Amino acid sequence: MATSIQRIGVLTSGGDAPGMNACVRAVVRSTIQRGGEAVGILSGFEGLIEGYFRPLAAHDVSNIIQRGGTILKSARCPRFHEAEWRRIARARLSEAGIDALVVVGGDGTFTGAKIFGEEHGFPIIGTPGTIDNDLFGTDFTIGYDTALNTALEAIDRIRDTADSHNRLFFIEVMGRDAGFIALNTGIAGGAEGILIPESKTDIDGLVRHLENGHITHSSSIVVVSEGDDEGGALEIAAKVKERFDKYDTRVTIIGHIQRGGSPTCADRVLATRLGVAAVEGLHQGKHGCMAGIQYRDVIYTPFEQAIKHHQAMNPGLLELAQTLSCYY
Ligand code: F6P
Repeated sequence: MATSIQRIGVLTSGGDAPGMNACVRAVVRSTIQRGGEAVGILSGFEGLIEGYFRPLAAHDVSNIIQRGGTILKSARCPRFHEAEWRRIARARLSEAGIDALVVVGGDGTFTGAKIFGEEHGFPIIGTPGTIDNDLFGTDFTIGYDTALNTALEAIDRIRDTADSHNRLFFIEVMGRDAGFIALNTGIAGGAEGILIPESKTDIDGLVRHLENGHITHSSSIVVVSEGDDEGGALEIAAKVKERFDKYDTRVTIIGHIQRGGSPTCADRVLATRLGVAAVEGLHQGKHGCMAGIQYRDVIYTPFEQAIKHHQAMNPGLLELAQTLSCYY
C-alpha cells in the first residue's frame, strides 16, 4: 500500500548503542532520497513531548556513521507512560507536520511506541538499537556486536593480569534481563564460568568447578551477566569466597564502557540496512512493528511480539562452554 508520508521524524531512545548514528543517517538519507523531509527529535520521547525538533538535511548526517553514542541524544522518559503527555507529544507532531516516526531503541522504547501508535493511530516503526540483543524478530540488534567486542577485549586484558597473579576474577558484563553478552564473551574469552539470567545459577556447582581448576589452573575467570539470579559479580564473588578462598579474588564491572565506542563494521551495515528498511516499511504502510534482519532478509515483526518474546538463546552454547572449561 503506497502512502502519502512526506515528513518523517526520527528519534533514539533508551540506552544508547553503537550504530544508532549509522541508523539515523540511513533514515535521513533514504527519506530524502524518496523526496521527503527528515526531522531529528532530540532526547527520545522527552524531545517529542517538549518539541525538540531539528530538520535534518543529508549533509547533517555526514561523518557520523563511525561515531558511537547518538547525535540525537537519548533518554528514558517516565512521562511517556502517561496518556496526557502522549497526547501532548501527538500535538507536537501535528504542529511540526510530521507524518510518521522511526524510533531506534529497545523494549522500553517499543513499548512506548506501541501504545502511542495505537492510541493516536500514528504511523510508527522501530529499529532494534540496544547492546542487549534481547528483541525477538531480528538475529542481532544494533550495538550488540560492538559491545561484544568491547567486553571481550576487556576480558582478554583481565586474563593477562589474572594469570600473572594466579587470581580468580569475576567480570560483570551488561544485560539486565538477557545473557547474550555474557554467554558469547564468556565462550570467546575461554571463561571457566558463565552466569546468565536464562539459566539457574548453582553456586555450589561453580565452587566445585573452581576447586578442581585450582589444582591445574593458575587463573580463573567467571563472566557474570548483571541480571543473574544470584546477583551481580560482587555478590557472587562474596558467595563463592565464603565457600572457597584458595584464590586471591578480584571483581571487575565493565559497565558503560560497553555502550560506547565506534561501531564495528557489522553494526554499521546492520544499522544502515535497518534504517533504510524502516523508511521503506513506512512507505509500504507497515506500522506498529520493528524492522529486523533474520538470516539475510529484512522482516517486520509487530512491536508486541518483538518485546514479549525474547530472542531464543541457544542452550547448547552454555553446555559447550561448560564442557570446554573442564579442567583435565
Ligand atoms: O538496555 C541496555 C543497557 O545497557 C542494559 O544492558 C543495562 O542494564 C542498562 O542499559 C543500563 O542502563 P542505564 O544506562 O540507564 O544505567
